[in-house]
Amino acid sequence: MTQALEIFVPDIGDYNDVPVIEVLVQAGDSIRADEPIVTLESDKATMDVPSPHTGIVREVRVKVGDRLSKGSLLITMDASADAAAAPAQTDAPTAPASTPAAPAPVVAAPSAPSSPAVPVSSSAPAVPVSSSAPAAVPAPALPAGGKVHASPSIRHYARELGVDLATVRPSGRNGRITREDVSAHIKASMQSGIVPGKTPAAASAGSGLDLLPWPKVDFAKFGPVESMPLSRIKKISGANLSRNAIVIPHVTNFDEADITDLEAFRIALNSENEKSGKKLTMLAFLIKACVSALKAFPEFNASLDGENLVYKRYFHIAFAADTPNGLVVPVIRDADRKGLHDIAAEAAALAKKARDGKLGPADMSGGCFTVSSLGGIGGTGFTPIINAPEVAILGVTRAQTKPVWDGKQFVPRLILPLCLSWDHRVVDGVLAARFLVHLQRILGDFRRISLDG
Ligand code: COA
Repeated sequence: MTQALEIFVPDIGDYNDVPVIEVLVQAGDSIRADEPIVTLESDKATMDVPSPHTGIVREVRVKVGDRLSKGSLLITMDASADAAAAPAQTDAPTAPASTPAAPAPVVAAPSAPSSPAVPVSSSAPAVPVSSSAPAAVPAPALPAGGKVHASPSIRHYARELGVDLATVRPSGRNGRITREDVSAHIKASMQSGIVPGKTPAAASAGSGLDLLPWPKVDFAKFGPVESMPLSRIKKISGANLSRNAIVIPHVTNFDEADITDLEAFRIALNSENEKSGKKLTMLAFLIKACVSALKAFPEFNASLDGENLVYKRYFHIAFAADTPNGLVVPVIRDADRKGLHDIAAEAAALAKKARDGKLGPADMSGGCFTVSSLGGIGGTGFTPIINAPEVAILGVTRAQTKPVWDGKQFVPRLILPLCLSWDHRVVDGVLAARFLVHLQRILGDFRRISLDG
């Protein structure tokens, strides 16, 4: 025997007009007493409203976005007579006809701490990325229409991380999804290149990335292969670079600086100091020139912090250093207060420390802006990825002697290509072009640096 019942929002304390963020049942579902019907989320808490009875849902009377208070009608249901007579919680009265009664909602604070599944700071790579082989994309944990069993705090955790709980394989009692299940799901998704909670073919409404699974190829079918684990540096920097490339709206501006006189100056100074072994590098001049440009354009010496822009009054310049194990980014602190020789010596010492694998987190933290020089190798231009939370990075390639028109004739000049990638949320193209013109002027005539305040 069944009994037709209306199920209402029970007493939810001081909460009124609380938005529905998830409807967990649909008409025809069979639900058990205590299973959640909807999830409500106020600015202070997330709560599941459970069914007081076991039975079949006849009609769902709410939808996502509705605002509910105590007494709002949620569903009508055909409750099994036994269950209707003996609701799950003894203090929750049966709800025949229009009595608003149900078990107490299960509440979770919305600020439940989330723990990212991958390291997110290049400056503090404290969380090692798992070295296990990439897991296959987890198959949906539930058949279509199946119900998810998870507490509000887990639902909140999953929502924060953009995970669709229906795709998470539960390991808890009675098929409940645990926090660890959500974390494991994200980890597997990251390793396979899939965005958590998104099936690859799902159409995007603009809220996420619908990436295809990473191609699985049996390379050995095509020829001899050797598989080597990625170095720890590559795993960490790869995760950071992927995030930065995806999250930051990058634009790269290109320009050129005439460094004929600067290079002649550098060579002259180096030959003067040959005996002492003090050597000036182009990198040291670039770092000094960047400090000057950062002073002139403080938006480049800033970081986004939510809706604020944090302007830095210090000038710590990072530089990309190539090592046998991958790319690292040590930082020269207070480059504005250091001379060219000190900067060159410090960069050389940090680059050596990097190659020896001895850089510590302190050597790589606090950078304001990064210089990535491929000048010792070659190239005519590239589009470097910004080292978050910085807002720009200068890429430099190999200077070449080119014919330059001086108004009367072509003259041979040493031209240095400059590539500035910048975050379009903070900077715009005009500012980027001005930044490069400033660099161009300083590098074209280094005496101008003395004009800085
Ligand atoms: N144009 C022409 N020649 C250049 C040059 C440029 N832009 N920059 C450097 N050179 C020359 C120098 O004159 C130097 O010759 P020298 O010994 O006669 O003075 C030679 O190239 C070697 O320079 P390099 O080894 O690059 O030293 P550096 O001080 O210029 O750079 C590092 C040091 C750490 C930046 C560099 O070793 C490095 O690791 N670069 C790679 C950066 C990187 O990985 N970027 C990431 C790209 S994704």
